[in-house]
Amino acid sequence: MERTLVILKPDCVWRGLIGEIIKRFEGEKFNVIALKMFHLSVEEAEKFYAVHQGKEFYERLTGYMSSSPIVGMVLEGKKAVLRIRELIGATDPKNAIFGTIRNKYAINGLMNVVHASDSLESASKEITFFFKTEEIFHYQRREE
Ligand code: CMP
Repeated sequence: MERTLVILKPDCVWRGLIGEIIKRFEGEKFNVIALKMFHLSVEEAEKFYAVHQGKEFYERLTGYMSSSPIVGMVLEGKKAVLRIRELIGATDPKNAIFGTIRNKYAINGLMNVVHASDSLESASKEITFFFKTEEIFHYQRREE
């Protein structure tokens, strides 16, 4: 079992797609084990995306991610890091495979619905950024 950090970005929240996107993850047998709404300050967004500092889109990204509320969650499941990245698709929706979340819903390469950790190491850091240990839960999926 792996855990990964997913953020439903402002364009997901303001278009009323929160439930739709969570449904896709749950439908693929990932458990939501932590969930919270945040409104990041510019400074918090800069810290979260520090790895992109210096890139031409950095200011647009941090401005956008602090512009309105987002939803952070921890998903748990088999090969969660890789499989969630596959489900969401490429950063730029023009390159995202048909059927992926970004292919269907992303507005552009910035407003692309959802963020997901790109490695187990990033997942661990990003989960800690948003959630305390006691805010993360564990349960078994039951179908009955
Ligand atoms: P995310 O998966 O959150 O990781 C970094 C984010 O930076 C990415 O999704 C996009 O929102 C944004 N991003 C990456 N590349 C570009 C780009 N070329 N132009 C605009 N935004 C970008």
